[in-house]
Amino acid sequence: MSAVTVRVPAKVNLQLGVGPIRDDGYHDLVNVFHAVSLFDVVTAEPARELEVRVQAAPHSRVDVAGVPVDDGNLAAQAARLVADRLGVEPRVALKIRKAIPVAGGMAGGSADAAAALVACARLWDDREQPVLSRDDLMEIGADLGSDVPFAVLGGTAVGVGRGERLTPALTRGTFHWVFATADGGLSTPAVYGECDRLRLEAGRTAPWPSVSEELMTALATGDAKGLGTALANDLQPAALSLRPALRRTLDAGRDLGAIGALVSGSGPTCAFLAETDEDAADLAHALDGAGVAEQIVRASGPVPGATLV
Ligand code: C5P
Repeated sequence: MSAVTVRVPAKVNLQLGVGPIRDDGYHDLVNVFHAVSLFDVVTAEPARELEVRVQAAPHSRVDVAGVPVDDGNLAAQAARLVADRLGVEPRVALKIRKAIPVAGGMAGGSADAAAALVACARLWDDREQPVLSRDDLMEIGADLGSDVPFAVLGGTAVGVGRGERLTPALTRGTFHWVFATADGGLSTPAVYGECDRLRLEAGRTAPWPSVSEELMTALATGDAKGLGTALANDLQPAALSLRPALRRTLDAGRDLGAIGALVSGSGPTCAFLAETDEDAADLAHALDGAGVAEQIVRASGPVPGATLV
């Protein structure tokens, strides 16, 4: 069996409603995920033992220095779980080429895990009568991280629970995005912790989140302006508190014509919506000149989840 290559998208959260903290330390969420055309590529190749290699994708400036190449990498854990389920040894070399920012709030680590799940299943499972379905891979993915099942599924979907219980959402057309990456990542647990702290400080109990009807209508009708208005992220105040410079980035995007602006997930990447592809190109160019980001990247969504290439 030769090498298998899988391409997997980044996500932006169109709505991230964060509820109270649960007994298990997680928060109940309403999480509207949207997969965008910024991809990591994972190649799985038979090897003597499990190994992970990570590099920046060609033309990408992703800093991969902090990405683990041992079992700390979710992709390695994914390979082990698939091997366990299929009763084989995890003898695979995973080569990860990253274009999704590391610790950027775009679920890059989860994306690599999703890609490894799909690639290793393809490598080791029966091709005619597979033991593991796509749903099985999403279930295995949920044990690795709350965002992994969505990276398998792709498109646009509403996640509840930790964000791992997904229902695909109806969308029309393509939405055009510009992403502003930042130097250095933000830790997801730290941002959730800051969200709790800010709420406690303000004497506010966390509201039970519910999905925005305005947002779902905008998605279903392909109404970019409506979507721009409805974008909402409960983690944004926490991300801004930990990284105040992001305020300037968001303001710059709005001033330069974005019809929606928010921190992506736990940040620090900022996401800007444009009405057309041309507007996105203009916005990207202007943001580049404004010097408020490490890198400016354009992408569109929705796109499919982890896909064999
Ligand atoms: O599930 P995952 O490992 O990606 O989550 C990373 C961290 O994000 C968790 O350890 C937790 O601190 C926080 N988290 C949370 N509630 C969620 C999802 C993540 O508090 N629903």
